[in-house]
Amino acid sequence: MKDEVQSPEDRSAKLKGMGCSRKRVEDVRFTQGRGNYVDDIKLDGMLVGDFVRSPYAHARVASINAEAALAIPGVLAVITAKDLEPLGLHWMPTLAGDKQMVLADGKVLFQGQEVAFVVAKDRYAAADGVAAVEVDYEELPVVTDPFKAMEPDAPVLREDLAGKTEGAHGPRRHHNHIFTWEVGDKDATEKVLAEADVVADEMVYYHRTHPMPLETCGAVASMDKVTGKLTLWGTFQAPHAVRTVASLISGIAEHNIRVISPDIGGGFGNKVGVYPGYICAIVASIVTGKPVKWVESRMDNLMSTAFARDYWMHGKISATKEGKITGLWCHTTADHGGFDACADPTKFPAGFMNICTGSYDIPVAFLSVDGVYTNKAPGGVAYRCSFRVTEAAYFIERMIEVLAIKLGMDAAELRRINFIRKDQFPYQSALGWEYDSGDYHTAWDKALKAVDYDGLRAEQAQRIEDFKAGKTRKLLGIGLTHFTEIVGAGPVKNCDILGLGMFDSCEIRIHPTGSAIARLGTISQGQGHATTFAQIIASEIGIPADDITLEEGDTDTAPYGLGTYGSRSTPVAGAATAMAARKIRAKAQMIAAYLLEVHDDDVEFEVDRFVVKGAPERFKTMKEIAFASYNQAIPGVEPGLEAVSYYDPPNMTYPFGAYICVMEIDVDTGEHKVRTFYALDDCGTRINPMIIEGQVHGGATEGYAIAMGQEIAYDDMGNHKTATLMDFFVPTAWETPHYTTDHTVTPSPHHPIGAKGVGESPNVGSVPAFSNAVHDAFRAFGLVQSHMPHDQWRIWRIAENLGLHS
Ligand code: CDP
Repeated sequence: MKDEVQSPEDRSAKLKGMGCSRKRVEDVRFTQGRGNYVDDIKLDGMLVGDFVRSPYAHARVASINAEAALAIPGVLAVITAKDLEPLGLHWMPTLAGDKQMVLADGKVLFQGQEVAFVVAKDRYAAADGVAAVEVDYEELPVVTDPFKAMEPDAPVLREDLAGKTEGAHGPRRHHNHIFTWEVGDKDATEKVLAEADVVADEMVYYHRTHPMPLETCGAVASMDKVTGKLTLWGTFQAPHAVRTVASLISGIAEHNIRVISPDIGGGFGNKVGVYPGYICAIVASIVTGKPVKWVESRMDNLMSTAFARDYWMHGKISATKEGKITGLWCHTTADHGGFDACADPTKFPAGFMNICTGSYDIPVAFLSVDGVYTNKAPGGVAYRCSFRVTEAAYFIERMIEVLAIKLGMDAAELRRINFIRKDQFPYQSALGWEYDSGDYHTAWDKALKAVDYDGLRAEQAQRIEDFKAGKTRKLLGIGLTHFTEIVGAGPVKNCDILGLGMFDSCEIRIHPTGSAIARLGTISQGQGHATTFAQIIASEIGIPADDITLEEGDTDTAPYGLGTYGSRSTPVAGAATAMAARKIRAKAQMIAAYLLEVHDDDVEFEVDRFVVKGAPERFKTMKEIAFASYNQAIPGVEPGLEAVSYYDPPNMTYPFGAYICVMEIDVDTGEHKVRTFYALDDCGTRINPMIIEGQVHGGATEGYAIAMGQEIAYDDMGNHKTATLMDFFVPTAWETPHYTTDHTVTPSPHHPIGAKGVGESPNVGSVPAFSNAVHDAFRAFGLVQSHMPHDQWRIWRIAENLGLHS
């Protein structure tokens, strides 16, 4: 047989397993317009819902008059908080232990808040209905600044919490205060700071931005009154959790709810939370007996669904004269908007912000975070990061730069002398994490060499001379970053969401002819899971990746899992996939040994078959074993070849990277040009190098947008100033820099295949690299700290403030 004469290498190549840049199987559909997104779902008699939204950031709702709206042909219902109240659905629980109005209940707390839900025959009638609903508002004083919100006489935002001195995360010390979270050794850190040779003290602001997936959020709810079954299609990053929450909120038994996440056009954390639109679509379907669709517009998405960041991080970092860091202190003021709707594991109200010691061996540290209510949209999601890791990485990478200025040291050298050494792993950080593996010095040296760091510094020095001599008006910035991520939430003992432990799952069934289907508890939003998870199975059990169907996102068929966000898919569900495959391989080994009439231990796995040790001509392929398993392969052993794994990871994984951005800045216009962007990532074992590269390009482009122009901005009256793509910067191919990618491989010691996550690393690592490049360009002229986003106007203003225009 032709197959049997092939070498193991040839057979291995045919599998397209781990390490192969297999083309994305999803793209056949996506590039031919065959994707199936929520808005593609069309059901018989389907109605459409849309929101009346508040034009005010803080106002009392005196009255709502729906008469004119209901008179419009095609408008069937206008739902308000009063209608939801008898059902107990006018408020909903948030993932952060707060509660949030589904529809305005007496007052509104941010511009764009949902006030009433208009149900109509089509989108046009719904829009007419929305315009015709009359709402009487009485304006209240607005507070958009979290520091002013904490002043004694600040307006009371959450009247529903009046007198409550305890929140979900401990004591509240002011009417607009949500929680205080503290980690580390306060006294020891303050002592070290007081006695240090050098202390750098800076306020680092990571501005409010938005994940802005290309597809906005949406849902279609269909209540079948005959079967009593509710089917909910939606843009859900965690479909199983949505089903459980929907059951708990609505009282509908969980087995009677089927949640389906179809194709999702990007999530980036925006599609983790539960939004009023989902609840209203469900209620409207129950009330009307018809399927009801709700899909946001772009403005709705930017104004009301979850924002990211908005952390004011006051830092102090101490060091010896030689540059050895001795301590780190950080106090963060976190602006959460009108409701605390952050998406973090329950025990971590500021996510994994306590990874803020970064890649450095810092003996002692202390972090405290105060969550604060303001008249802004709620959220605080992990925008392509593992729960506030992005903020943490930006903070420490800016503090390192500020310390380098204070010490008069080269920032690359300062990093090098403070990196956690390879022999220190597993490394216990001062703020409580155990880093699994890393080799930072190797990655750093490789990165510096790749960009010719010494040459760049010499060129920069010459440029400064030329600038001073009037020969050029362009400065050169070298933005350095070494980041450490923490991804793969994870361990159930530490991480849960609303009491659901953060494990994940995979179920694999091998068909008689040797092909397979695998179902996972995660859901791809463009990351290519159908491509890469099949590759893990291919390598583990020797079935070609092309012969494996991968399904996610349907709670009636997929095993329970906590979903996809925070780069947890590969560290958790990827591990479950390998473990389920290994269970299958163990049974296949028994079957092969039985068929070959040898002991189980006398056969060994080789690419796609079990071979008798020492007799390579005697083997059974996985195809043969699969077929045999559907007969009575071994007397007394149950037929079939399938397995499921629910994987509770023993630890997070800690991917890392070294990013360097070289940027030219025109002092007179504030324009910038990224000359080089070098991104070295270490995500342990690499499953699909092409997909990893794509992830890095996408994440770095988001990082570029955030650092260089993108923001969610409000004026003092709480008006949202960036709710359209005219104002909210999204880079096109024109602005996007060219990226050079590179890697090192330091496997995770506890992950079955040694893989760490990668999807979020480029967002985490690129933002400080871009920002540090801007700062570095002006370092010689006295710039220490300037807030993002570094748009053209703000860069021009830096130059102006430094007196470089005169
Ligand atoms: O959870 P999410 O899918 O967003 O992030 P991830 O686990 O970092 O994976 C993003 C994509 O990169 C997936 O298709 C992974 O399978 C792939 N990947 C890889 O090929 N090798 C790794 N070591 C990590 C991720």
